[in-house]
This record gives sequence, structure tokens and C-alpha cells, in this order.
Amino acid sequence: MEIQSVKGTRDFYPEDMAKRNFIADLWKQVSVRNGFAEFDGPIFEYLAMYQLKSGDEISSQLFSFEDRGERKLAIRPEITPTLARMVNQRINTLPRPIKWFSVPRLCRAERPQKGRLREFFQWNIDIIGVDDCLADAEVIFCAVDYLQQTGLTSNDVVVRISSRRLIAALLECFGIEKQGLEKVYGVLDKKSKVPAETFGKMLEEAISDSAKRQKVLELMSVKTLIELESFAGCGEKAKEAVDELKKLFNYLEIMGIKEFCRFDIGIVRGLAYYTGIVFEIYDKSEQLRAIGGGGRYDNLLADFGGPKISATGMGMGDCVLGIVLEEKGLFKNISEKNNIEYFVVYADDSLKNETLKLIATLRRAGCKADFSYKGGALGKQLKQASAVNAAKCVIVGDEFTQKKQIIIKNMSSGEQSPVDVGEFFSKLR
Ligand code: HAM
Repeated sequence: MEIQSVKGTRDFYPEDMAKRNFIADLWKQVSVRNGFAEFDGPIFEYLAMYQLKSGDEISSQLFSFEDRGERKLAIRPEITPTLARMVNQRINTLPRPIKWFSVPRLCRAERPQKGRLREFFQWNIDIIGVDDCLADAEVIFCAVDYLQQTGLTSNDVVVRISSRRLIAALLECFGIEKQGLEKVYGVLDKKSKVPAETFGKMLEEAISDSAKRQKVLELMSVKTLIELESFAGCGEKAKEAVDELKKLFNYLEIMGIKEFCRFDIGIVRGLAYYTGIVFEIYDKSEQLRAIGGGGRYDNLLADFGGPKISATGMGMGDCVLGIVLEEKGLFKNISEKNNIEYFVVYADDSLKNETLKLIATLRRAGCKADFSYKGGALGKQLKQASAVNAAKCVIVGDEFTQKKQIIIKNMSSGEQSPVDVGEFFSKLR
């Protein structure tokens, strides 16, 4: 029986692994330089945790199972609930603000498509304990810092920003009841993701009153923060939300990333727990789903039994990002080979043990070193050295027996010179 891999999963051969590491190493590097500390949690949790506040969409995509103790569990589809649970557990001892990052492997039983798989990696950065939208600005800055670091510019990617707080205030003003809000958010989030006709039907299902629906459609056609002034009659809550967005854009300008950011009323986010500023990052070809997204979730920690503490953050997956980096030729300086520094070759079998000692010494000195298991003709061993991209070859031959010398061959220039073994190792150290 031929065993296949499961649909929506990936095998990472060394050349794929090099790209995955390029993405993830930079995630870690940029997180650290932006002041975030790394955390992680288990890959499965109680199913109920994801059903509580993540929303219907993610609940319907869970890989869930029952363990032998009949506990209902699920593989993590996101790490934000774990973060909330972990922070709550130590809320009295953790110094604030809490700035944490993580790169978890996640699973969602989605229909696999370009940029969407059933198993993926997702960079998370979160700030807990800061009410001011400066924290939201910092999260966006950190995401843009990463994208710029890969070589992407504001011609390639855009951060589309809106506010759940604003949308909630306006929907309330249009007469849409609070209990129905979550459903409406779910539909609005789909506006740019489904055909117009499907969206129309979904909206009709969520809001039966046609006058209210018309108001919502009017709101969804707003292009700038200034245009929102036509909803000025909607009261103080809406005004405060607009002022907060203005303040955020001011911070983004001061931080020097305004050209990456724009207001987009259509950003609502699919997860249920967002409460304030929300954003999504897209590549400008508009052919792909979001590279990343996040926002403020000020109630989640309290909903999980902790105190009321504000929080904001974002997640960025490796799938769409990988496609964009590939398309733009930005997987630079990635060697798909092992980049061996020293490949040690030996002239005949009597020198094999000396070669093994040399290899061990080189490796202990921190050098990437390898050799041929088979040995045999020097020419063949040198070919093997080229195949593993070795920078230099160490030739153990007659000179070794006679004068304790080895020959160092530079594989790109072809130059070679004899060196005393002792001198070679003392220089290495
Ligand atoms: P999310 O919008 O569900 O947010 O996911 C964030 C990003 O993860 C997406 O934009 C996408 O890049 C990637 N992603 C999601 N699902 C898949 C999939 N099936 N295949 C490949 N990539 C995917 C969250 O998960 C929030 N917990 C993020 C967050 C952190 N908000 C605050 N803090």
C-alpha cells in the first residue's frame, strides 16, 4: 500500500526547510529587536477554549478529538486563546506591559487552496496591558518592520486598518441590535472574499430590515476617514472611535510607515473576540488572501476568567507570505545545500582513522565538516565535496604520513597549499 501525505499538509524537504527557516528566523529576529519575548504552549487544548470566544468560523474548522479519559480536545487553530489562558494564570506576577511573540504550528480544517492549508506556521506578536492605540501602532510597526526586512516595499504590500469599535457604534446607530452584531461582523468580513451576490444574500439573512441593510451598504462604500463625517449624527461613541483611528494614523506617520497603511472600512476580521482597532495585511496584487491580520481584543482575558486587561496583537502565516516572497524573488542568499566549510578527503584506507580524528577536531572547533563514507579515488571524493557545496577540501595524503601536513584546497579558485596540522588547528581556534 502506498502511503500518501494528508491533503492540506506539507513535507519540508531540505530545500523547503531552508525557506521555512528564512521566514521564521526573521520573524524571531524582528520580534526580539521590537522588544517581544518568546512563549509557546501545548499543541492541543480543551475544545471548549476555542468554542468560547473565537467565533463560529474557527469553531467549524477545528480538528477535535476525544482522549481516552473522554476529554474533548482540539489541535490549536490559533494561539491567542492559549496566550490569554497563560497570561491569566500568572497575571499577578508578570511585569506589564506584556510583549510576547510565538511561532506556533497550527491546524485548521479549511478547504485547502492557494495560500490556505490545513497545517501552517503563524507568527504572533501581542501586547497586553496597554489601553492606548500606541500599542496597536507598535504591533503594526513590527509587522511592517518584518516585511521591509524581507525586501518588500509599500509598492508590494498594504496594511488595511479599521475599527470594530467604530463599526459597532455605527451599527448600533443604524438600529442593529447588540445580540446580532457578531453575525453581522461575520458577514461583513466576507464582503471582499465572496461574490457580490453571495454577500447580498448573507447580509439579507443577517439583517432582515432593508432600510438598515441599505445603511450598512452605504457605510461599506466609505473610502476615507473624512467621508465618515456623513455619519456624524451617530453620536459620541462613533466620534471617539474615529478620533482613535486618527491618533493611530498619526503614530504610524511618526513611526515612518504611513505609506504602508490605509483606512479600509471593509476590514472587520473573522474572529469574534476583536473589540477595537483591526487590520489586515495584503499583497497589492489582490489575488491572494491576507498575509496577516490582527487587532485589539480587550475582553478576551476577562472572558477567560481573568481581570479586565486590554490586549492587542496580530498573526501572520507562512503560506501567503511564502508565495509573495517567491513571486518577488526575495528568498535571497538561501542555500538549499548544506554549505560544508571543510570536506576532508583521504588518499587511501590506511589514512581513514586519521581522517576521522581530523573531522572530529574540526567539528569540535565549530566548523561544518564532512567526509566520504565510501572513500575511494580522490577525484570521486572531490566530486562529492562539490556536490555538498564545500568551500574547502582538506586532503589527507602522503604529506600527512611523512610530514604531518595536510593540503587545503580552495574549491572555488582551485588553489591548494600544504599546512602543518598543528598550525592549521591553532589558526582555527
Ligand atoms: P487569523 O486572521 O485567523 O488571525 O490568522 C492570521 C493569519 O494566519 C492569516 O492572515 C493567514 O496569513 C494565516 N492563516 C490563517 N489560516 C490559515 C490557513 N488555513 N492556512 C495558511 N495560513 C493561514 C488569528 O489567528 C489571530 N489569532 C491573530 C491574532 C493574534 N490576533 C491577535 N493576536
